[in-house]
Amino acid sequence: MTVAAARRAVIQGVGSALPKRRVDNAELAAQVDTTDEWIVERTGIRTRYIAGEGETTATLAAEACRKALEQAGMEAGEIGLVVLATATPDQTFPSSATRVQTMLGIGDCIAFDVHAVCTGFLYALSVADAMLRAGNADTALVIGAETFSRILDWEDRATCVLFGDGAGAVVLKAEEGTRGILATRLHADGRHNDMLYVDGGPSTTGTVGKLRMKGREVFRHAVVNLADVLTEVLGAAGLSAEEVDWVVPHQANARIIDATARKLGLSPERVVLTVDRHANTSAASVPLALDVAVQDGRIKQGDLVVLEAMGGGFTWGAAALRF
Ligand code: UT7
Repeated sequence: MTVAAARRAVIQGVGSALPKRRVDNAELAAQVDTTDEWIVERTGIRTRYIAGEGETTATLAAEACRKALEQAGMEAGEIGLVVLATATPDQTFPSSATRVQTMLGIGDCIAFDVHAVCTGFLYALSVADAMLRAGNADTALVIGAETFSRILDWEDRATCVLFGDGAGAVVLKAEEGTRGILATRLHADGRHNDMLYVDGGPSTTGTVGKLRMKGREVFRHAVVNLADVLTEVLGAAGLSAEEVDWVVPHQANARIIDATARKLGLSPERVVLTVDRHANTSAASVPLALDVAVQDGRIKQGDLVVLEAMGGGFTWGAAALRF
């Protein structure tokens, strides 16, 4: 008896986009009471990119998608599903996914936004994976895109130095074989709303609001939750930490990334680190880092890759995939 091969969502291409303007720590130190030394020592961040006029979450997302499609050797018209993770959409509604659909010239398809803040890309990937495996579509664009600079309090040194803007995207195609997404695991615990949130919204203040964070508490939860969910997703995929070729973590803080890798016994050489150049780009951070490591040749077809993220809610999640 022959066993049918599993239908899996396989990454065909990766792309990313950054705003034109790069801002280094010294430029911020001229605006708020901070120093390059403090930012580098506490976070690992050296630069971030800040969106300017005409650059929005959807324009960055569309640029990332064009590059991902080019790498995949596919046309936009072949895409059946667009899932865009963001906490900073162009408009309260309609979804930024539908704006990207139009910018790319995609006809009738499924398109919607997913909102899980910094864990957004993991949530979007998991939903797209399930929809491809269920047969709702055969191809998908999964995007993480943010313009957090527009919800920062530029007078709050404890938060404004930590974030940046950008977008990353992957093209998925359902295929039968050994490559593709092997397992995903997602979590949320809404009791921690007050530790990382925006103090406005359409149904409360009628304003967009500004980001507020109790950084030390978030840090403490992040290391525990990320180590737990990584262990969980590897278990679900039937893999051990030793088999992992690359970990692509959410890029919030180099110390969180180091501590999580150490807890799991993963060597730092196998961890992709881009927080130094991009800072924390929320839902964009994992696909941006993935793109860097794919384009520079570190991540190759067939590698076992683990993605993880944690953010506001709290939400956290991980995915294991054969690239
Ligand atoms: O993406 C979602 C997940 N988010 C995160 O993962 C962020 C998690 N948290 C962190 O990354 C870190 O907690 C921070 C980088 C936000 C802060 O680092 P910390 O080592 O936890 O510092 P702290 O908040 O305990 O602050 C230490 C000191 C304080 O001064 P006092 O009270 O000790 O006198 C702050 O006022 O550093 C001060 N401080 C600053 N000093 C210079 C806070 N921000 C700055 C700043 N420049 N930008």
